[in-house]
Amino acid sequence: MEAQIREIVTKYFSSSEIENIGVFNGRVIITLQNASEDADKTKAIEKEVGALPEVNKVSVIYTVAKAAPTIHPEIEKWQVRGVKKIIAVASGKGGVGKSTTSVNLALALAKLGQKVALFDADIYGPSIPTMLGYEGVAPISYDGKTFQAFEFHGIKSMSIGTLVDRSQPLIWRGSKACGAIEQLMTDTNWEDIDIMVVDMPPGTGDIQITMSQRLKMSGAVIVSTPQDIALIDAVKGVNMFKRVDVPILGIVENMSYYICPHCGTRADIFGHEGARVTAGELGVPFLGEIPLHIDIRTNADKGTPIVLSEPDSPYTKAYMEIAGKLLEYLM
Ligand SMILES: Nc1ncnc2c1ncn2[C@@H]1O[C@H](COP(=O)(O)OP(=O)(O)OP(=O)(O)O)[C@@H](O)[C@H]1O
Ligand SMILES: [Mg+2]
Repeated sequence: MEAQIREIVTKYFSSSEIENIGVFNGRVIITLQNASEDADKTKAIEKEVGALPEVNKVSVIYTVAKAAPTIHPEIEKWQVRGVKKIIAVASGKGGVGKSTTSVNLALALAKLGQKVALFDADIYGPSIPTMLGYEGVAPISYDGKTFQAFEFHGIKSMSIGTLVDRSQPLIWRGSKACGAIEQLMTDTNWEDIDIMVVDMPPGTGDIQITMSQRLKMSGAVIVSTPQDIALIDAVKGVNMFKRVDVPILGIVENMSYYICPHCGTRADIFGHEGARVTAGELGVPFLGEIPLHIDIRTNADKGTPIVLSEPDSPYTKAYMEIAGKLLEYLM
């Protein structure tokens, strides 16, 4: 099947422009790199590939490889002392639930007996202080050089949000943002942390690429909603980490389906299973699905994420299962 698809695509694009062809359960995702976008060619490919037996959906995605990254194995990594393993929680698109997933997974990993740190690197919208209940609190330094990590709900954490005024829009050039993230990460007293979860800034730009190269990452978790538009960005996220040799731990489908808090009825608002299918197409693990439920939002807003406030709920169970899968990989 893949060979047939490749044959069709090479009628329109050179084989060096084909980055990936993914086929899973009748869905085909063709990723083209550095090819100039052409609506007629896209349509022709969708039509011809769509006519192949057992194909029911075709997507063509154009990605652009930036001049960076030049990957040197000897690249100088940031020295984050006191932390054994670092995992990134990332998304190609903003607002898909990256921070909610980061905080609940960090708390779930702590419940599984790990010493956990959560680092909020989202320069565009730092939200971990709110989600852990220390919004507006400044970090303490005893020696004038290093910060004490915050300790709330049994995990340590630090947020780029503690350095900036949230009411002011933050416009940082890439190098300045990376410098600030490095400084805050390396100047915080972590001490004896098994796993650090990093809530990454959304997207796949220079800041995200630099962070992925400079941090010694054990792997990345990609969060996506089931909509095609979010999944296309999730594919870009997976490809970015692959390019800098960070293993993909898997994809989490967030806001997977809606549960009515009154009657318990389920509705697949954004479609369902899209992330599972995309993970299959990309050959990366699917970690699990988290439903869209009002309690997940309200508890995060209150500073008591659902894994703490409703420990016996099915939502907590879903986060615990994902955390268990991550541990299995990391140990
Ligand atoms: N599973 C869920 N059920 C209900 N609400 C959710 C769920 N996941 C996230 N939310 C809510 O959706 C909004 C966006 O989530 P969140 O802030 O975690 O996304 P994000 O990807 O970190 O966004 P950003 O790109 O702005 O940092 C928040 O109000 C959050 O409470
Ligand atoms: Mg966020």
